[in-house]
Amino acid sequence: MRRIIVLDTTLRDGEQVPGAKLNLYEKLEIARQLKNLNVDIIEAGFPASSAGDFKAVAEIAKKLGDKVMITALARAVKSDIDAVYNSVKYAREPLIHIVLGTSDVHVEKKLRKTREQILAQGVEAVRYAKSLCPNVQYSTEDASRSDFDYLWETIEAVVKAGATMINIPDTVGYAVPEEFGDLIRRINERLKNLNPDVILSVHCHNDTGLATANTLAAIKNGADKVECTINGIGERAGNAALEEVVMGLVVRKEYYQATTGIKTTEIKKTSNLVSALMGLDVQVNKAITGDNAFAHSSGIHQDGLLKSRDAYEIIHPEDVGVENMEIILTARSGRHAVKNALAQVGFNDFTNEEFEQVFAKFLELADAKKEVYNHDLYHIVQSTIRRDNSDDQGIKDLYELVDMQVIANNNFPSASVKIKKGNDMLMSSSVGNGAVDALYSAIRDATGIELSLLEYKLNSISRGKEALGRVSIKVSHNGKNYTSKAVDTDILKASALAFVNAVNMAVVEEIVSKREQAI
Ligand code: KIV
Ligand code: ZN
Repeated sequence: MRRIIVLDTTLRDGEQVPGAKLNLYEKLEIARQLKNLNVDIIEAGFPASSAGDFKAVAEIAKKLGDKVMITALARAVKSDIDAVYNSVKYAREPLIHIVLGTSDVHVEKKLRKTREQILAQGVEAVRYAKSLCPNVQYSTEDASRSDFDYLWETIEAVVKAGATMINIPDTVGYAVPEEFGDLIRRINERLKNLNPDVILSVHCHNDTGLATANTLAAIKNGADKVECTINGIGERAGNAALEEVVMGLVVRKEYYQATTGIKTTEIKKTSNLVSALMGLDVQVNKAITGDNAFAHSSGIHQDGLLKSRDAYEIIHPEDVGVENMEIILTARSGRHAVKNALAQVGFNDFTNEEFEQVFAKFLELADAKKEVYNHDLYHIVQSTIRRDNSDDQGIKDLYELVDMQVIANNNFPSASVKIKKGNDMLMSSSVGNGAVDALYSAIRDATGIELSLLEYKLNSISRGKEALGRVSIKVSHNGKNYTSKAVDTDILKASALAFVNAVNMAVVEEIVSKREQAI
């Protein structure tokens, strides 16, 4: 099994996304998490671009460079190479990364030089970098649109000048898997003859959605190293997504005969951190890290999964740090999924007639509110078959948002809420940094539960007519995290309902565990 080296360029190519600029502390936080993910190399920035970037790369090299190789990008000019060396030199194993184009469009139109001049510039840059640092990577920018003979001539010359890694970028996402795989095979055969110690790397962009496919095709054809970003962020349509390439190798290990050192259980956490700090939402259906990547909503699929998980699951969510597969109860869910959800919250002793009553109510609710949650099932059971048994533990402990009032202004955002718990009406008012902060403080005070907000997201759905609120909380007394959602036409109500739903999830879990202990 070949061990593929993973270079993460979230902090360099990923940071080129408009609006995703990070400050020093945010960069360090992401770099720390990349180290937990166990990437082999962190490309920490482009130090010649600004004093801030230089400082961030140097700080990352100082703080994390004893555990992971650190690199940064330089154009093939002395001042850039100096900036890279002076920032990465604090790492135990620094790497200087030089980029220079090889395609005619880059050589003639962008750089306005001849092929010979560019080749000489590249060789000189490598020689200079090598005088500073033993590890030098040379990227032949726009390699996939370059003339093969000139590309190879360049590679041969820079390897002879001392380059220890050759990176083949598909800079504009032009490549297709078969052709790109073939290019890598041809280069690899020659390169390993020239110097078997030189590492062959690829760097693919996603302009036609093929970055992951091209990267995997390169691995199949001999690439030793891949360059990726978390969530596939990067210039234009982005780069190959680290999580997709890594899990592609895991799922089809026998086919690729290759593996990485990535600690896959850290993937989701890393994705969340990058998304939150860069302010870039992850597409919900994004492979591996999207919210719906492990959520099953079709009744047929839910039935199949409950019979055998491998019917519709090729990756265990736990393996990438997602707590569990999510069975979303909607109007399309069948009886099997609803029975399973009821059993999860402790209701499994129905007669057929009782279950049919519950199921009919469930469908009614699912039509009205799209997604049905565990605490909704409590209400259904209570309002149908357990009406007489009003001391049934649990129902009285759930929270229901009855009313809310929010004042959003610059000076004094405040909120008041009225929340029902059993027969009690709980009321609270609070001020906050903003309207949602005030609203959440008021709800927290009304429930009296000590908890902290981990994540809050609001997206528009249904062509912007409705808002989807998504909230993650951490409950202090059990240290557990709960994530829930809610939809409403009012953004503040969607936010409040999502928060209350998350609190109810914690309550339901406690009721179930008490029931189980009592049995
Ligand atoms: O896309 C590209 O060509 C690059 C190089 C610097 C590797 O980002
Ligand atoms: Zn790139």
